[in-house]
Amino acid sequence: MSRYSKSLLLSALLAFSTLVSGLGTSCSAPLGSGTAAPSDPYWLQTVKHQGTSAFNSDPSSYQVFRNVKDFGAKGDGITDDTAAINSAMSSGGRCGGGSCNSSTVTPAIVYFPAGTYLVSSAIDTYYYTQMIGDAKKPPTLLASSSFNGFAVIDADPYIPNGWGAQWFSNQDNFYRSIRNLIIDLRQIPASTSAIGLHWQVSQATSLINIVVEMSTASNNNHQGMFMENGSGGFMGDIIFNGGKYGIQVGNQQFTVRNLTVNNAATAVSGIWNWGFTFQGVTINNCQVGFDLATGGTTTSNQTVGSEAIIDAVVTNTPIFVRSSVASNGQLAGSLVLNNIKLSNVPTAVGVAGGATVLAGGTTTIASWGQGNVYSGTSGSKNFVQGNIVSANKPSVLLDSAGRIFGKAHPQYASYAASQFISIKSQGAKGDGHTDDTAAIQSVLNEYAGCKIIFFDAGTYHVTDTITIPAGTQIVGEAWSVIMAGGSAFSDQKNPRAVIQAGAASSQGVLEISDMVFTTAGPAPGAIMIEWNVHDPSGQQAAAGMWDSHIRLGGAAGTNMQYSQCPSGSVNSACQAAFLGIYLTSGSSAYLEGTWVWTADHDLDTSGSSDISIFTGRGILSESHGPVWLIGTSEHAALYQYSLVNAQNHYIGFAQTETPYYQPSPAAPAPYSTVSFYNDPTFSSSINMAWGMYIQSSSNIIIFGAGFYSFFQNYSQTCLTTNTCQAQIFNIDSASNVIAYSVSTVATTYQLSVSQNGVIRSSGNADGFQETFTAWSK
Ligand SMILES: *[C@@H]1O[C@H](CO)[C@@H](O)[C@H](O)[C@H]1NC(C)=O
Ligand SMILES: *[C@@H]1O[C@H](CO)[C@@H](O)[C@H](O)[C@H]1NC(C)=O
Ligand SMILES: *[C@@H]1O[C@H](CO)[C@@H](O)[C@H](O)[C@H]1NC(C)=O
Ligand SMILES: *[C@@H]1O[C@H](CO)[C@@H](O)[C@H](O)[C@H]1NC(C)=O
Ligand SMILES: *[C@@H]1O[C@H](CO)[C@@H](O)[C@H](O)[C@H]1NC(C)=O
Repeated sequence: MSRYSKSLLLSALLAFSTLVSGLGTSCSAPLGSGTAAPSDPYWLQTVKHQGTSAFNSDPSSYQVFRNVKDFGAKGDGITDDTAAINSAMSSGGRCGGGSCNSSTVTPAIVYFPAGTYLVSSAIDTYYYTQMIGDAKKPPTLLASSSFNGFAVIDADPYIPNGWGAQWFSNQDNFYRSIRNLIIDLRQIPASTSAIGLHWQVSQATSLINIVVEMSTASNNNHQGMFMENGSGGFMGDIIFNGGKYGIQVGNQQFTVRNLTVNNAATAVSGIWNWGFTFQGVTINNCQVGFDLATGGTTTSNQTVGSEAIIDAVVTNTPIFVRSSVASNGQLAGSLVLNNIKLSNVPTAVGVAGGATVLAGGTTTIASWGQGNVYSGTSGSKNFVQGNIVSANKPSVLLDSAGRIFGKAHPQYASYAASQFISIKSQGAKGDGHTDDTAAIQSVLNEYAGCKIIFFDAGTYHVTDTITIPAGTQIVGEAWSVIMAGGSAFSDQKNPRAVIQAGAASSQGVLEISDMVFTTAGPAPGAIMIEWNVHDPSGQQAAAGMWDSHIRLGGAAGTNMQYSQCPSGSVNSACQAAFLGIYLTSGSSAYLEGTWVWTADHDLDTSGSSDISIFTGRGILSESHGPVWLIGTSEHAALYQYSLVNAQNHYIGFAQTETPYYQPSPAAPAPYSTVSFYNDPTFSSSINMAWGMYIQSSSNIIIFGAGFYSFFQNYSQTCLTTNTCQAQIFNIDSASNVIAYSVSTVATTYQLSVSQNGVIRSSGNADGFQETFTAWSK
């Protein structure tokens, strides 16, 4: 079987000719740098707004983009804008208020022009909302001195007198993003409890470029963020100044990149988790950096299970990490510290009450861990509180300071509205029905490299491969959807790319943000994204995706909802895709906040009905790197992550769940294994999906992972005995592969080599999950 069909080759050739000529055919000049005048508002404010929600009951009147000033907000720092902002948030029959769990048909951007918006009570955020401030002059939400509310921005409000009931179920609170806002609590008396963000969220969520300003008085009661539970998620480029806590967090898992906390009593207060990865942390002038509740090792007493911190700079702070309970010769909360630079930090790791586990000073901690450490094929655990194996970090993954390279979600703040081209203005409909393949392809062919391509909100139905030439920058609006369907994607024996990101062997910038890719089922032959493009030399992460997700089934328009695919059914009409993302051998990729989700419940039918959707594979990487994966992948039939002949990968917190229906049918059904894609093998004992499967790969750093298996055939009885699945994470013939901070749920083995179980979960109880601190080979 050949991977590329003829027409794919043809379109690849076309894309190649575009690349050779340098620019799209209608380009008069390359895009170059931004031309916005200093006084211009952010392009998102002035660009023409013609986005729609294709499957809303009234697409012609439903408004996606909402400028709060159009709803009466003044932004003058004097007028109380609370009601106006809440009206911009809620108008148009949106999903929230406690009567709606989720919806994909009422998306919105609530936009804040530059200014100071006085608020006196909470901004309650509805499902599927992006709150975006002017990226050039981030606006301020100023809490009034008499502010009365749970938090200035509340992502999951408690219902008054609701006995703890909330608007959304915390582990299904998807599709939220807040960007470019300053939240100022300083008018609230220091002694009054006040919270900037109540951020109780799950996957497909992000915080980007947020600052919270708080009191710096001693014993103040301000707090930048409160997150008590959820199943996240990504946040990055966030700064907390002052407060009792910068952030106080409890959540199954999270990836936090580029967090700065200045002048707080405690920078990060950890309530509970199964695993958090912090990448790039700056802490200045706090009393404690990370203050962690630890020691709960039973299912009913979950504390901070696993904290992995890489690339931190900590200054003038007496204690970097403090746990509430000592690890006395056994696991009581796994901890991994990698490349931690301390300046005037007397205690690096301590215990409440004063004991020092690791002394600090002014020094660098290269690689230190607390927890159970393993190597090779040996299942014998070694409890360590000390130096642990240090990852060999290929320089292609690092910035000039030797940290893991990070690149913020592109927002194109310096670009003028005239430097964007709207896909709808060029003839694409985005109405969920019209075949937009030719219209989209022609915009890409004409404007790649000289305009930023703006996908106005909508659902763009495509029936053949869309080839995105190297040199293209694509921005969606409230997660614009490309939905593939039809006969081109119907044959799992002849899989075909929906999106081809760069022709084979191409190099260049290729940026995609705020998009969702899906199928109208069945589409068992769809490879959602085939990623071929590579960074040009010297331009790390030029090729990447931010806040862009693959969502398969479970949403309006997909034909794979509750009525067609109720849980327990095995319906070939519910085969959603062959493969989620394919990073080919010549590619490099930076994926930040990418959720490859095969729906386990229907987001649009009553919001909670379980469904059975079948996707073959999650993320396949054959790339030689550099690859940065700061994302998650779930519920595919064969595997969630497969690395084959892969090199030079940094994988931040990788979260997976095994499909709830397995082993009925047993993996790989209803798909077959295909040797061309180096699929892992299955047997009567290996009959559930792999969370991660690594073959013939080298220089792979896994810095935090959670591989969960909660069900067998929708039943959870196996949870109590930890036997939902035998093996979930396998490594074959690999060199320089290091896995830190890996948590699993309900699997017999946590790690296998060549499909032979090595690390037994029974030795690593750590609350609801089991955790090992490091494995290397
Ligand atoms: C969420 O967290 C709060 C505070 O820790 C806790 O009381 C509540 O039970 C949690 N809810 C769920 C559904 O986990
Ligand atoms: C980190 O965040 C700060 C504040 O948003 C930003 O100025 C800086 O560029 C970010 N750094 C990286 C590497 O993303
Ligand atoms: C949970 O474990 C911690 C640490 O051992 C302990 O302090 C706390 O009392 C326990 N809580 C419950 C409810 O058992
Ligand atoms: C929301 O989900 C819960 C279960 O998680 C369900 O009991 C409830 O009926 C749902 N509410 C709505 C309005 O669909
Ligand atoms: C899966 O569960 C369903 C419903 O409980 C049951 O009818 C079916 O026999 C089960 N399948 C297997 C293989 O256990």
